[in-house]
Amino acid sequence: MGDNLINLKNQAIAQISEVRDLTELEQIRINLFGRNGKFNAISKEIAKVAIEEKKQFGITLNEVKNTLEELIQIKKNDLTNSARVWFDPTMPAKKNKLGKIHFVSRAIDEISSVFEKIGFSRVRYSEVEWDYFAFTALNFPVNHPARDDWETFFVDLPESKKYGSMLLTPHTSSGQIREMLSRQALPAGRQAPIRMINIAKCYRRQSDISHVPMFHQFEGLVVDSNINITNLKGTLDYFAKSFFGKNRETRLRPYHFQFTEPSFEVDISCNVCDGRGCKLCKEGWLEIGGAGMVHPNVLRNCKIDPNVYSGFAFGWGVERVAMMKSGLSVPDVRLLYSSDLRVLSQL
Ligand code: PHE
Repeated sequence: MGDNLINLKNQAIAQISEVRDLTELEQIRINLFGRNGKFNAISKEIAKVAIEEKKQFGITLNEVKNTLEELIQIKKNDLTNSARVWFDPTMPAKKNKLGKIHFVSRAIDEISSVFEKIGFSRVRYSEVEWDYFAFTALNFPVNHPARDDWETFFVDLPESKKYGSMLLTPHTSSGQIREMLSRQALPAGRQAPIRMINIAKCYRRQSDISHVPMFHQFEGLVVDSNINITNLKGTLDYFAKSFFGKNRETRLRPYHFQFTEPSFEVDISCNVCDGRGCKLCKEGWLEIGGAGMVHPNVLRNCKIDPNVYSGFAFGWGVERVAMMKSGLSVPDVRLLYSSDLRVLSQL
């Protein structure tokens, strides 16, 4: 008896799966469950089943019945729905969204290639630094409050006797020291020329609409014999023209940094008003970053003789120049580092 049921079940499953329309399916349903259907016939035979097998037979009968009823229902749903969904094979395929290199990474690539063309080599140094390289060797007196200007994140580890506290690089200027000291291994007279461009992450305890606690700077350093302010000015003009466009110019304004003497703030001519003055700029000029001639004490700290060599350095914000170039005005710079695709896809 049990075997009959299983055969019936297998046959019915095969039939249901091959059905192509609702009429055919209804016919199968009637053949199985109708008044003169197979199930009724089998149920009648229960009388003939041996008494001890009756219970199991009843259970199997129900299971088979439920399974088939369920299958018929599923098939019915399929046939009903597929009749409604019309597939148009000529429709254009859905486009996959394309990713792209981040706005800031693109700017970094462009800045490096501008400087590589005039012989600068891109370098990188550790983002976790000692106070010595970020401040002391850059001519900041020990415990001088000027360190506060850099809003530094200190790493909560014991100080080094030699190098002081551990910190996250608050500016790329520590790369000047690292670069000059790395030349000590070279034979005398081969420490220069240096033409480095250090582009790196910087960290400061500031977070508001115009500051992100992690941002990028690019730091140029040139050291050689007879380097003077005209070399600095020429390099800055070259950068301004290559990066922003050939009509742009730079100007130097006296300023103060511990590690350069003289020091300057660099402005670039405004392209909106062509130098006449508008609401975007200060009387035709936009402020872009710091620069100066490497302080003799800094050269000495790096075992370079200031009577033989001189140098210039500049350090600017990557995000700032990239936004100035693209004309992008973001209401909050922190958006540059959000993972919101609505923002990212516009950058
Ligand atoms: N390190 C300075 C800053 O973070 C910029 C600078 C770099 C100034 C090199 C002079 C020379 O603001």
